[in-house]
Amino acid sequence: MSAMQNAAETEMTEHDTVSGPDSSAAGMSAAISRKSLGYNYRWEHVTSVVTLALKLAHILKADEEVVEAAAWLHDITKEDGEEHANTGAEFAGDFLVETDFPQEKIEQVAQAIADHKGLWRESPLTNLSSMILWDADKLSKLGLTAVIHWTSMLLARQEPLTAAGLVELKQNLDWQQKTVKSLHARPAQDAAKQRLIAYELFWTNLEIELSGADILSKSLD
Ligand SMILES: [Fe+2]
Repeated sequence: MSAMQNAAETEMTEHDTVSGPDSSAAGMSAAISRKSLGYNYRWEHVTSVVTLALKLAHILKADEEVVEAAAWLHDITKEDGEEHANTGAEFAGDFLVETDFPQEKIEQVAQAIADHKGLWRESPLTNLSSMILWDADKLSKLGLTAVIHWTSMLLARQEPLTAAGLVELKQNLDWQQKTVKSLHARPAQDAAKQRLIAYELFWTNLEIELSGADILSKSLD
């Protein structure tokens, strides 16, 4: 397990003993699932961002070490709200300097984290690692991933909630188009467009099922 992954895992989950002989991804997720009784949106989001960011970094030939570290640590101070991008960048700088992470790359990691603030941008970023973290972070909030992440998060609150209520809640997502427009890399843009389509289709089909509109009288003909 990398130091960044360990830091993110420690900060974002309630499990404090996930380290051990089996530090593979499979071993870690098994340990987490053993200990976790609820749904941890932040951890799910961050692990998703790491996956997407590494994929984009590979395609775009970016520095994968920088991108992976930034992805693991980008929401490490999420509890700071609006300021979390800046405080996360500070955390990353202070944390990585104590590790064997290449010291000359720390500033790039911090920059990418500082740049990921917000759901959309008026002007594009210019730094490749920042662009990739931005795109991966926003992609993780779109599509069927969003359906699973957000629905699970809402259900985990254990407050009264119906399927019809979930459909109504999803209507209030007008930021999605702006987010898709503010992605940088063509592969991320293409994926985002597909995710929006899948997202809309999911809710449309759910509404159809809930209303029984899929039961057609002409089937009896
Ligand atoms: Fe994030």
